[in-house]
Amino acid sequence: MIAIIGAAGNFGAPITSALTDAGFAVSIITRPGSASVFPDGLPVVRVEYADVHALATAFAGQDAVVCVVGPGAIGAAKGMVEAAARAGVKRYIVNDFGWGLNERSLPELKPIGEPRKLAWECAFEYATRDEGKEDGFTWTGITIGNPIDWALAKFPRMGFNIAERHATIFDAGTEEFTGTTLEGIGQSVVGVLQHPAETANRFVKVRSIQTCQNKLLAAFQKATKGQQRQWEIERSTAQRTLEEGRGKHAQGLGGWILDLLVYQLYAPGEARCVIAGAEDSLLLGIKQESADEVVEKALRRARV
Ligand SMILES: NC(=O)c1ccc[n+]([C@@H]2O[C@H](COP(=O)([O-])OP(=O)(O)OC[C@H]3O[C@@H](n4cnc5c(N)ncnc54)[C@H](OP(=O)(O)O)[C@@H]3O)[C@@H](O)[C@H]2O)c1
Repeated sequence: MIAIIGAAGNFGAPITSALTDAGFAVSIITRPGSASVFPDGLPVVRVEYADVHALATAFAGQDAVVCVVGPGAIGAAKGMVEAAARAGVKRYIVNDFGWGLNERSLPELKPIGEPRKLAWECAFEYATRDEGKEDGFTWTGITIGNPIDWALAKFPRMGFNIAERHATIFDAGTEEFTGTTLEGIGQSVVGVLQHPAETANRFVKVRSIQTCQNKLLAAFQKATKGQQRQWEIERSTAQRTLEEGRGKHAQGLGGWILDLLVYQLYAPGEARCVIAGAEDSLLLGIKQESADEVVEKALRRARV
């Protein structure tokens, strides 16, 4: 029995369908006032996220809880861990789905990660309390790096404006990074729950692909070959993006987070976003995909 919080979200939806496809009995925890729409046939329990007592009641009898709430709910993440520990949940998948304990992240980004770190630390403490106990509390974090097919379709700032067929290549376009597709994110949760011993009390680091902008551009050009509109290519630098982001940050403007994330992805020679090797992905059954496959998925998501 698996409970998921955030089941209708960008990542929660593919995780929920991967879990049900894999045969897990899934129940959904949501807010009383939530307008989220969930798959038919799954039990839905409505609880205030700030109410630790009510959450513990909702988690009773669950073997595992998957926390995949969005940034708007991250302040409640620590209480969710406490509720799971109180309810006797054996595995808690903490809300990472990002860069894990990345000490190399830019200083401006650190405060954003603080509430989620508090929740992680709470999970570490309960796991230490229960060390050696059969059926004690354990946790896993899933570090995915760039959610690549979703991010390519959603954020032209990553360098590929799909609708306009306009690419911005940063520096030489050769900086490699790892990314995980939505399918891979769903499978990573399934894989963790299928391998509880190997994944207890640690961050697993997963990927569907390691690639760079030039390989993605070649895949976009191949996939859209023969279409009337061809890709225009503009050159920029990661350093310029960093300066633009820091300028927006200093002026209190929006958009700086994405600029800084793009800098971290493409900063030449730094490998800041090569997050995962092959090992955990192999263990968890995450399919390794080509740039062509990832780009096909991004084009389908962007529906152009
Ligand atoms: N690696 C990356 O680049 C990357 C990118 C995006 C996200 N992430 C991370 O992945 C995780 C999930 O993100 P996501 O984009 O899938 O989340 P999301 O779609 O924004 O939200 C997921 C769910 O959280 C609940 N929620 C959202 N806003 C809320 C609010 N203001 N108050 C209370 N509840 C709220 C909703 O669930 P209910 O309606 O059921 O309550 C929603 O369906 C987060 O930790 C996020 O930081 C990482």
